[in-house]
Amino acid sequence: ENDILNNLPLKGKKVLITAGPTYEAIDPVRYIGNHSSGKMGFEIAKASANLGAEVILVTGPTHQSVSNNLIKVIPVTSASEMYSEVHNYFNTVDIAILSAAVADYKPKEVASQKIKKKDSTLTLELEKTQDILASLGKIKTNQYLVGFALETNNELENAKEKLKSKNLNLIVLNSLNDEGAGFKSNTNKVTFIDDDETVTEFQLKSKAEVASDLLNKILQQINA
Ligand code: CTP
Ligand code: CA
Repeated sequence: ENDILNNLPLKGKKVLITAGPTYEAIDPVRYIGNHSSGKMGFEIAKASANLGAEVILVTGPTHQSVSNNLIKVIPVTSASEMYSEVHNYFNTVDIAILSAAVADYKPKEVASQKIKKKDSTLTLELEKTQDILASLGKIKTNQYLVGFALETNNELENAKEKLKSKNLNLIVLNSLNDEGAGFKSNTNKVTFIDDDETVTEFQLKSKAEVASDLLNKILQQINA
C-alpha cells in the first residue's frame, strides 16, 4: 500500500487552489457577493489530493466541505483577505490554480454603522480589488500557474488575452452559453488553452470530471 501511495503522480508536490466567491462589506450587515458555489475549486482540491498532492485550499464563503488529511482549508471572506493568504503560500507551492470568483470591485468606504434607509436612491462608490491571479503572474518563478476565465462572448479571444496579460501557463475557459454550465450547477463546459495556444474543447461534464481532466492536462504539461 505504501508503494502505491508513494507512486502517485503528484506525491511531493504542493498545490494552491482558490475557490468560491468573495464578499465585500458595505456595512456591518451587508456585502456585495456573487453566485459562485465553490464546487469547482473543491473538486480540484479533492482531485489533487487523490493524486497525492499536498493542497492549500483558500476559499471564500461556501457550503462546501472536505475532510482529507492532504487538504488544508483556509477560509477567507474578502478579496483582500484572499490576496494575503494566497501570497502567504505561493512561494511554497509547485502549482497554483485560481478558480475563485473574486469580486472585481468593492465599496470604497465600509460604513461603520448600518446604513439607514433614507432617500429613494442610494449610490455606492466602488473601487477595484487587487487582481490576485495577475499579481502571481508577475512574481512567479517555477510555479505552474492556472487561471479561469468566465466569458459570455468572444470567449476564445478573451481567454487568450487573459492567459497572456496575466502570464499564465494554462487558462480554463468556462462557457456560460450552454444550459447546465457554470456557477450553481454540478456541470461545466470548459476549454483549456495552454501557453503554446493549444486549444482543447470538452463536452459538458460534471465538475469532478472537469477537475480530473484539468489535473491530467497539468500533469502532461509539467512532465513534458
Ligand atoms: N481573479 C483574481 N483576482 C481578481 C479577479 C480575478 O485572482 N480580483 C482571477 C480569477 O480567479 C480567475 C481569473 O482571474 O482565475 C479570471 O477571472 P475573470 O473574472 O474571468 O476575469 P477578470 O480578469 O476579472 O476580467 P473580467 O471579469 O472583466 O472579464
Ligand atoms: Ca472578474
